[in-house]
Amino acid sequence: MIRIENLQKKLAGRDVLRNVTLHVEKGQFVALIGRSGSGKSVLLKHIAGLMAPDAGRIMLDGQNLCAARGKKLETIRRRYGFVFQSGALFDSMTVYDNLAFPLREKTSLGEQEIRKKITQGLEQVELGGVESKYPSQLSGGMVKRTALARALVMDPEIIFFDEPTTGLDPIIADSMLRLFDACRKRLNLTGIIVSHRIPQIFSVSQKVAMLHDGEIIAALCENGSIKTDNQILRQFVEGTVEGPVVYQ
Ligand SMILES: Nc1ncnc2c1ncn2[C@@H]1O[C@H](COP(=O)(O)OP(=O)(O)O)[C@@H](O)[C@H]1O
Ligand SMILES: [Mg+2]
Repeated sequence: MIRIENLQKKLAGRDVLRNVTLHVEKGQFVALIGRSGSGKSVLLKHIAGLMAPDAGRIMLDGQNLCAARGKKLETIRRRYGFVFQSGALFDSMTVYDNLAFPLREKTSLGEQEIRKKITQGLEQVELGGVESKYPSQLSGGMVKRTALARALVMDPEIIFFDEPTTGLDPIIADSMLRLFDACRKRLNLTGIIVSHRIPQIFSVSQKVAMLHDGEIIAALCENGSIKTDNQILRQFVEGTVEGPVVYQ
């Protein structure tokens, strides 16, 4: 569904993406891992159409995303949903209005239909009775669930999670991962999840892609673990000091 081919991007004089190639199939979640500063968010921004590469291309169902502008790019973006680390909710709006915001801005649905979508969205993320609450009145996990619901009300086909579990305690973080997995299955979502929850992230991903030195090292996930002979990937996943890479 998404084919990233030989993507290159230099930022502030540094080759952040040197030669990134990655394929994401429909209905698949890819765990994007790698050290802080390795370029994971930069890569997501390219796929989102927020950053343009120096070279290479990103094909979405055969359409070159990097060449898309204006209405064409807008149509592509409508297929996307985003969930960021902070949740990025509007603090001055209730949960209801946070969820209603993209529906009011980007669709022509009436208030009754909007209400129905919001109720459904909150059900998908297993949140009830929070419509009139403000983000400051919610726990960290509930903020993340609300952020996911806000993405889901727009019926995305492809969803991007940038460190959605960072800052949550391990139990809540893993319940979020299970929720992502349930949503993937129920809604047939395709997605990329940036997460440091290793190895838990492998239980809800079909593929792992490690961004290392501007390139992707990929492997398949099976029953919560990864199949790879790559020593760099193994070392990172096992978190060991000994190996081909010297971590400082
Ligand atoms: N807009 C930008 N301008 C210049 N440098 C950037 C920009 N965005 C990210 N970078 C740099 O690119 C590198 C990768 O950043 P990022 O993708 O945020 O890493 P991470 O893997 O932690 O998400 C970092 O060195 C960062 O400083
Ligand atoms: Mg990042």
